[in-house]
Amino acid sequence: MIPFAPPLLAALRSARMIAVLTGAGVSAESGVPTFRDAQTGLWARFDPRELATPEAFARNPKLVWDWYAERRAKVAAVKPNPAHYALAALETHAPQFLLATQNVDGLHQRAGSANVVELHGSITRVKCSREGSLVEHWNDAANDEPPRCPSCGAYLRPDVVWFNELLPHAAQTAADSAARRCDVLLVAGTSAEVYPAAALPEVALRRGACVVEVNPNETQLSADVAYALRGPAGVVLPALVAAAWP
Ligand code: OAD
Repeated sequence: MIPFAPPLLAALRSARMIAVLTGAGVSAESGVPTFRDAQTGLWARFDPRELATPEAFARNPKLVWDWYAERRAKVAAVKPNPAHYALAALETHAPQFLLATQNVDGLHQRAGSANVVELHGSITRVKCSREGSLVEHWNDAANDEPPRCPSCGAYLRPDVVWFNELLPHAAQTAADSAARRCDVLLVAGTSAEVYPAAALPEVALRRGACVVEVNPNETQLSADVAYALRGPAGVVLPALVAAAWP
């Protein structure tokens, strides 16, 4: 049983609106690698400029398509963990709720979260690189290049946000509004280094929300939050929800 501060539990119970910002750490216990953790993070092994930018895709579309195809297959094979389920349970207790995630793995929705915005898109979807329209079926036969859009012939690409690209407008607007209106913001499993997502806790702090961090490690946000809960999200989040609503 983790001892949580009574004022934290009271803040959760009395909140009219709870917002959540998640990052790769929430999926770590499902077996999805994070980005910036030393050694195990994807960006420790791969150069994001070669894989996660529009320029990289223009230079070497096959390399980028193949890298995402491999990650898409891995994400399809993993399952939500107790952190995802705890956040789905949290949603049922909050009068108003929004979960903004930087994750592209779709695990929050698979765990039952309903009010989710995907700030960085989803690796489970594919879109036309020219028109942006979603494509559900494509022909993988020509394996010397990415598959082509069935309607216009341009290369297909993952429906994720790359560095140097804008976030989907509706997702960004919904997350901004939640950060401005929420009484409690839970920030779980993110290094809080990548903007504009990293601005959401700053907005909530300026508006006087109770900001709570869940992360085994210190981040650049830690000094400013009301509560820094140190531990894996798959342990801390279920315990927190159970303590607030026994
Ligand atoms: P990072 O890899 O930057 O940060 C992951 C965070 O999760 C770190 O602070 C870890 O300490 C923490 N962590 C690790 N294991 C954990 C666990 N079991 N429970 C809780 N926390 C844990 O990942 P993000 O913050 O998600 O964007 O990165 C943000 C964005 O940068 C990603 O969406 C991606 C990346 O480049 C794009 O690709 C555009």
